Amino acid sequence: MLEDTRYKVITADDAAALINNEDILGFSGFTPAGAAKEIPTAIARRANAEHEAGRDFKIGVVTGASTGDSLDGELARANAVLFRTPYQSDKSLRAAINKGETKFFDMHLSMLPQAARYGFLGKIKYAVVEAASVSEDGEIVLTTSVGASNTFCGVADHILIELNEAHPEELSGLHDIYEPLDPPHRKEIPVYKCSDRFGSPTLKVDPAKIVGIVKTNRPDEVGGFKETDAVTAQIGENVATFLADELKAGRIPEGFLPIQSGVGNIANAVLGALGANENIPPFEMYSEVIQDSVIGLMRSGDITFASATSLTVSPPYLKEVYEDLDFFKQRMVLRPQEISNHPEAVRRLGIISINTAIEVDIWGNVNSTHVMGNNLMNGIGGSGDFTRNAYISIFTCPSIAKGGAISTIVPMVAHLDHSEHSVQVIITEQGIADLRGKDPVQRAIEIVDNCVHPEYREQLHAYFANVKNGHTPQTLRTAFAMHEAFMEKKDMRGVDWSSKYSKD
Ligand code: COA
Repeated sequence: MLEDTRYKVITADDAAALINNEDILGFSGFTPAGAAKEIPTAIARRANAEHEAGRDFKIGVVTGASTGDSLDGELARANAVLFRTPYQSDKSLRAAINKGETKFFDMHLSMLPQAARYGFLGKIKYAVVEAASVSEDGEIVLTTSVGASNTFCGVADHILIELNEAHPEELSGLHDIYEPLDPPHRKEIPVYKCSDRFGSPTLKVDPAKIVGIVKTNRPDEVGGFKETDAVTAQIGENVATFLADELKAGRIPEGFLPIQSGVGNIANAVLGALGANENIPPFEMYSEVIQDSVIGLMRSGDITFASATSLTVSPPYLKEVYEDLDFFKQRMVLRPQEISNHPEAVRRLGIISINTAIEVDIWGNVNSTHVMGNNLMNGIGGSGDFTRNAYISIFTCPSIAKGGAISTIVPMVAHLDHSEHSVQVIITEQGIADLRGKDPVQRAIEIVDNCVHPEYREQLHAYFANVKNGHTPQTLRTAFAMHEAFMEKKDMRGVDWSSKYSKD
């Protein structure tokens, strides 16, 4: 089909040869869904060759969010990443970031596209975008994600396309591409219900910018999820019970409100539990990612519509979607991440946000990104976009990690992503802490009594029980004693505060 086109069909290595040291590239991909694959791998090969020849070769890597191994993994292993933003979840890249070899700055995902347009990220020279089809006049049908591809194509000097036959051209109609004007001309985002469409089904680019098309046939590199275990199942149950009770109490309107659900194993399990709870009516999603559990819940009618920016489902689920595209296209829309995560939409629609924490403190502050305060896990993703603006903001996590050696609930988070002002409800497998309308001490009691693992409950009560210093009775000298205990003896249990309080 492309033999007679105006575009040049090139190899991935031809594309990589166009890239120079220190160029900044904007890649498609939001999670491994829709991520560029052939060209970044070829750039990694190029980087290895350049390094062997004794020349510097690193590029700035801007994406929608995390990507697949053939992008983040290959480039990280080739030591080809000058800087990286925003969210990532790749093992090799994470190691390079935590060793200080790769510069990484984290951003709220809804803000990434405007930061690119405002020029805050430097000049993006190439957009590298995966497509299901490209027309002669520059209309691109994207694949399993939109992410920031529309913005990258708009701001980049040149566009490289990976035309991937693994995705059917019939995907056309799944996407709704809308990009807001920049201040002072910006208007409201016209989304009044999850299913509203107000953009274009294709991404329209200047065809003169397309410098090459690389043909490929490669599936998305989406892994599966861990089987739901007793702990994640109980967390899911607790979230469902909490929301069913809110509905019963009239604090959630009849007919329910749209759900945003985060990424990862826990989020996938929570969604499954919401669908299974008979006291929760069929609901819509206004979220970032459509994960595996959504597919079955759409089939059963428990989820009636999902707005997101990526369809991040493992291969058997993607096969199911592709075999029945008519059914699923009526029930989902993929938008740019600037719209799927837009704070204005989140607040207007009254979204219930459910995200996962690495660590929570007894006052309600949440750490989503850093282990023991210094090692980056993945990044903040869209959790801040949703949490800060949600109708009800919920964080879930297991009460313990690493076989009980870590309490995920601590006196003070070792890194702060979401403050007590944005976090309303904490849910673990132990229970539910509703922080709304409570002062710091009331919150601490609520969290320790309801969410902390029994092995740590007494220890955490003791932390603030005898402290009478101010509105939030924090004790700076001992706030990180549990973290220190873990670093010293690989266990947070058994911290004795009594001697440490004597001067407070
Ligand atoms: N200290 C140390 N390690 C911890 C920990 C803590 N307090 N809490 C969890 N961990 C470890 C777990 O042990 C596990 O390690 P393993 O892979 O070696 O077993 C790992 O962190 C992941 O935990 P898991 O229970 O599998 O959670 P998950 O897959 O649901 O992911 C987050 C949890 C927080 C990492 C993930 O949700 C995330 O990156 N969130 C931030 C972005 C976000 O919220 N995006 C959604 C916006 S739409």
